[in-house]
Amino acid sequence: MCCVDHRPQWIRFILDDPSKSTLACSLSRELHHKGYLTYILDGDNIRHGLNGDLSFNAEDRTENIRRVGEVAKLFADAGVICIASLISPYIKERDACRAIMPDSSFIEVFLNIPLEVCEARDPKGLYRLARAGKIKGFTGIDDPYEPPLNCEITIELEDGKCPTPKAMAEEVASFLDKNGFLQS
Ligand code: ADX
Repeated sequence: MCCVDHRPQWIRFILDDPSKSTLACSLSRELHHKGYLTYILDGDNIRHGLNGDLSFNAEDRTENIRRVGEVAKLFADAGVICIASLISPYIKERDACRAIMPDSSFIEVFLNIPLEVCEARDPKGLYRLARAGKIKGFTGIDDPYEPPLNCEITIELEDGKCPTPKAMAEEVASFLDKNGFLQS
């Protein structure tokens, strides 16, 4: 059985590292075990459907984030913890999403993983293609990324290594717990 939080929230992740989707899944599992209902809005997946008409130019990235923000708000209104796993490279759009969420319920998680680590992993081979000029406007290569100034959680390398998905999920879940988001 799943129960829902009375203070729904939208959690989002940034930076194009494979960790963002992995962390979203791991966090979702962790919260399910605790009895919470969650839904993951993952940039890669949403761009196949709802946002299938959008490119990666600045205007479309803005619209991508705006739509995801509105959808996340609907989930949150329904009492579901919505985990939005996106790059969302611009501060302005992230702040616009923060502004539409009530009661400080927008929790921004910054996956601050150095570009060289992302490139070394490159599970989809996209960085390689971007470096070769075969993908234009790739975040971190030839398109900007504006790091957050006011995020709630920053996840960084430990001893040069990315924390495990479980450790990252526990860190986020612990923040939610300490800040009263997981009260039944
Ligand atoms: S966002 O910038 O508009 O927020 P979003 O999170 O939806 O991006 O999608 C990012 C995913 O799209 C990446 O994980 C990557 O797999 C893929 N992708 C394809 N082209 C690009 C690009 N030019 N820049 C960044 N990501 C890209």
